Amino acid sequence: MKQLSIKPELHAFDTCKAFAEEFKLGKGDLILTNEYIYAPYFGQLGLECDVLYQEKYGIGEPSNHMAEMICGDMKGEYKRIFAIGGGTIIDICKVLALKNPVPVIDLYDNKDAIEKDKELILVPTTCGTGSEVTNVAVFSLIERNTKMGLAVDQMYADKAVLIPELLMGLPMKVFATSSIDALVHAMESVLSPKASVYTQLFGYKAIEMILNGYKVIAKEGPEARKPLLKDFLIASNYAGISFGNAGCAAVHAMAYPLGGVYHVAHGESNYCMLIGVFNKYMEKDPNGKIADLNKCLAGILGCDIAVVYEELEKLLNTILQCKKLHEYGMTEAEIESFADSVVANQQRLLSNNYVFLTRDEIRDIYAALY
Ligand SMILES: NC(=O)c1ccc[n+]([C@@H]2O[C@H](COP(=O)([O-])OP(=O)(O)OC[C@H]3O[C@@H](n4cnc5c(N)ncnc54)[C@H](O)[C@@H]3O)[C@@H](O)[C@H]2O)c1
Ligand SMILES: [Fe+2]
Repeated sequence: MKQLSIKPELHAFDTCKAFAEEFKLGKGDLILTNEYIYAPYFGQLGLECDVLYQEKYGIGEPSNHMAEMICGDMKGEYKRIFAIGGGTIIDICKVLALKNPVPVIDLYDNKDAIEKDKELILVPTTCGTGSEVTNVAVFSLIERNTKMGLAVDQMYADKAVLIPELLMGLPMKVFATSSIDALVHAMESVLSPKASVYTQLFGYKAIEMILNGYKVIAKEGPEARKPLLKDFLIASNYAGISFGNAGCAAVHAMAYPLGGVYHVAHGESNYCMLIGVFNKYMEKDPNGKIADLNKCLAGILGCDIAVVYEELEKLLNTILQCKKLHEYGMTEAEIESFADSVVANQQRLLSNNYVFLTRDEIRDIYAALY
């Protein structure tokens, strides 16, 4: 069984200036970013590269249509594509680096024909997705009414670059949703049947760093996150390495219909499902790999193993308040239709579940969280 691979070369810089100099950013390069990230950090460097601002193409997480509009505005013959942004921008750039990216929905249906013809450099500005080290891009597929991950090795970056300075302006809400996403990546991937001792090394370290950071923020308040942003950026990268190899599972699978239909931020929709899925895992098999995770969580949270998920929820609620699914607008009928959608569209993720979940168990989890 494959144990571990880290495809992109990893780089880190203290400043954007140092990054721009070492990477010789200039003519022939395209940067996709947000204006409010680019202006303060790169604006004064006088770079000659082309820049597109993602927010001009719509708000919220990426859809296939957003990516297609951006492809339509790529006017030059670019050798390198730089993503400087959150998961939304990173995932769009994974598609921009391909030879024939449009229509995006065809990439899902004809994976064999996908070719990459540009160098791809990914610079995350949130502390969540870990997308800079994975081969996955996630889009809302408007015609299919859900979000779906597309996982192909042609979408690996050539280089992933960590610059903690870029996170200094990250609002608390985005910090919360993105870092909870990273925690879920780590928790799902350490339990995956594809996990190895190597992937678990990264996954467990990410869990420890994120939860210890949350404990400080819970005690001292939201401003206490600022000196911890570098740790959170590294933790999200570790979690990316862990799930990039071992995969995410039912929490992500069940979050996608909610995120796709009701536009709930990815990390928040994951958090809505997290405790429900893990309680079901405990009901079905408390004695497998999950026992190691519970021991780790109890140690960090300073509680009894019997109450780890209650205590975890209490801590996470100090960072982001968990809501019931109906509060996002989900209807009772969608308890059934979302369960069907998960089984129909999310087998890529469900195959990484800690224990097999039937369609009716998935329905029951939605019902308990409704
Ligand atoms: N490909 C993968 O492996 C993978 C993994 C997990 C999630 N995802 C996807 O990533 C997306 C979520 O990404 P995200 O959580 O990073 O959020 P995001 O990219 O959607 O950004 C959220 C908001 O924060 C803003 N923002 C980002 N960085 C900022 C900064 N430094 N300062 C100020 N504002 C900033 C963005 O402009 C946006 O308004 C979802 O679509 C999700 O499905 C992909
Ligand atoms: Fe995620």
